[in-house]
Amino acid sequence: MNYLPPKMVCETKILTDDPSSLQGPHKDPLILSSTQMWPPLPTSASLAPPSSGAEEEQAKEKVHIREFQPPDQESARRIFYEGIKERIQSSAFRGLKYQPLLQSIYTVMAVICFVVTKSLLVTCCVPIFLMGMRYYYSRKIILNHLECALRTDMSDIDQYYMRQSGSCFWVAVLDGKVVGIVAARGNEEDNVVELRRMSVDSNYRGKGIAKALGRKVLEFAMLNHYSSIVLGTTAVKIAAHKLYESLGFRHVGVVEHHTVPGMTHSLLERLFFQLRYHRYCLQLREE
Ligand SMILES: CC(C)(COP(=O)(O)OP(=O)(O)OC[C@H]1O[C@@H](n2cnc3c(N)ncnc32)[C@H](O)[C@@H]1OP(=O)(O)O)[C@@H](O)C(=O)NCCC(=O)NCCS
Repeated sequence: MNYLPPKMVCETKILTDDPSSLQGPHKDPLILSSTQMWPPLPTSASLAPPSSGAEEEQAKEKVHIREFQPPDQESARRIFYEGIKERIQSSAFRGLKYQPLLQSIYTVMAVICFVVTKSLLVTCCVPIFLMGMRYYYSRKIILNHLECALRTDMSDIDQYYMRQSGSCFWVAVLDGKVVGIVAARGNEEDNVVELRRMSVDSNYRGKGIAKALGRKVLEFAMLNHYSSIVLGTTAVKIAAHKLYESLGFRHVGVVEHHTVPGMTHSLLERLFFQLRYHRYCLQLREE
């Protein structure tokens, strides 16, 4: 397969002066230009964080998605790090909602504690202890996983994504500042491209930046004639899942006991930490 050089597909500004001109049915998205492909995107004024002053100055600036450049390395790593680090809490606490077996085990542990100690006070401490252990293991494993990513592809984004055929890395820039990232990694054998490393600075969320980044990957996949885009996420928060659904991805399965580098699978670890890995796919063409 011949890939178009990433430069050819990464120059589109995400702003539009006439949003309505971008809407309407598209029977064959493959033949549309990038500005025609997707619904309207936010203006720079709406993308400014609530806390920032000088709105007038910012309104003059354009938020746009562009290819990664080596000076973006540290900002990209920071956004990636902070985005994944948020999962420590959500996996430890919110994640329990999706683990019925563990809920039962924890309940049995509390009952046993009451039977043995006959103390309500001690029994009330059981949930605190369990949540503490969940937080401990979640933190340990997610930080390990993060370190691993920061040592591999995120250690040299230019080398790993920009110099490889079929791969690319984009940043969302507002007022000269990198506020979001996403990567595409092609697999020539299967003719699929994987969307990876999607993350937006927490000060700039809910403004359509992730969607714009996602569209850039879609655009890249179409122009390079990939048959589908796949991704996997262990995100617990609803935002990531809504994002992929809103981009047209289909949820194609969930792996209940997902493993990430750094997991030891000890009994304690299994008792206090589980990851659900959701797989999504967006079919672009029939093979
Ligand atoms: C997930 C994440 C990338 C979303 O970034 P964002 O810029 O806030 O997302 P957008 O504003 O582009 O929103 C895109 C869609 O996501 C959904 N969404 C975003 N935030 C949401 C929230 N808090 N609750 C529910 N849905 C949400 C919306 O459906 C939205 O589509 P719509 O505008 O058509 O309704 C961001 O929260 C993040 O970086 N999280 C940490 C890292 C992470 O989890 N990455 C993805 C996992 S691989």
